[in-house]
Amino acid sequence: MSQAPGPEASGSQPVMFDTTSRLVAIVIGVVAVVAGLVLGINNPFLNRSVATEGSAIDQLFGLTLGIATVVFVIVQGFLLYSIVRFGRQPDDDTDGPPIRGNHKLEIFWTVIPALTIFFVGFMSYQVLADIEQPQDDALVVEVKGFQFAWQFYYPEQDVTSTEMHIPVDRQVHMKMRSNDVIHSFWVPEMRIKKDVMPDRVTEAFITGTETGTYPIVCTELCGAGHAVMRSQIIIQSDADFKAWIASQQTTASQAAGAAADPMAAGRQLFNSSGCNACHALADAGAVGALGPELDGYSAVAGTRVPGQSAEQYTLEAVVKPNAFIVEGFPANLMPQDYGLRISEQDLDKLVTYLLGMK
Ligand code: CUA
Repeated sequence: MSQAPGPEASGSQPVMFDTTSRLVAIVIGVVAVVAGLVLGINNPFLNRSVATEGSAIDQLFGLTLGIATVVFVIVQGFLLYSIVRFGRQPDDDTDGPPIRGNHKLEIFWTVIPALTIFFVGFMSYQVLADIEQPQDDALVVEVKGFQFAWQFYYPEQDVTSTEMHIPVDRQVHMKMRSNDVIHSFWVPEMRIKKDVMPDRVTEAFITGTETGTYPIVCTELCGAGHAVMRSQIIIQSDADFKAWIASQQTTASQAAGAAADPMAAGRQLFNSSGCNACHALADAGAVGALGPELDGYSAVAGTRVPGQSAEQYTLEAVVKPNAFIVEGFPANLMPQDYGLRISEQDLDKLVTYLLGMK
């Protein structure tokens, strides 16, 4: 029972690079490669992509996941092995061996990760360059985000919609812009996610590979209604898409023809939407006093915000009331979700009606 184990005690310490360690290293290496291949190829964390771009992104993700798995198994494997075999025994009070660095090891663990990162970066660049390559026959869709809804405009067809319809197997070139704050356009099934900004147009490309309906999600916290800022993307056959476009164009022209009495429609909306509770307007028999009086409104609409047309100002005053507060009235009093409560078409009618108040 010697009380202070001297240098001779270290003779019983396991040697670091012996046959056992070599065997363990081989086992860890094999397990790491197999695990990396299984996870990288099966990619169990993602549902199936329904876009060409999404599949390219998934392959890249699989590659990255495979590499990460290999690194994880190697690092954790050697860590566990070291703890079990070289960890301090309960009755061992000796100092550890005086190790001062190891150049080979340091070069190894610097060069390998550097090469790995460079490789993954290079592959990512290739995929990005590939999926952002515009094609000649691309369908252009202008995406507008506002608190708290999405709007899709097809400039070539002159169609506006709150749902996004796209033909299968044709590239869609999205030009996106926000009306107010930063939103983010995300279709999980297509792996496409891009910020939508008020001060610039951002672009994204998607090519649907399977017909079906998939959610569009706003994935940038943009205000109280962020969670409900959703829509859907409908991937359909070329024939169905053309039929939808045609039906939208007919609806639009019918609406234009049927708008024989836009004033009556606007008056009805003004009252059914609850505007009359707070605003006074003789034409609608409204006597509310919480908000500005609206008799003779058209005379002031175009003068309130410099550079903003009467139409723009009126729409904003309804869907974004805090953008401009008429003097003498408090901010935050008018609900800010009329953009959600009232449909696009009805908002237009309401604007037309209000601008008719001479
Ligand atoms: Cu828009 Cu969140």
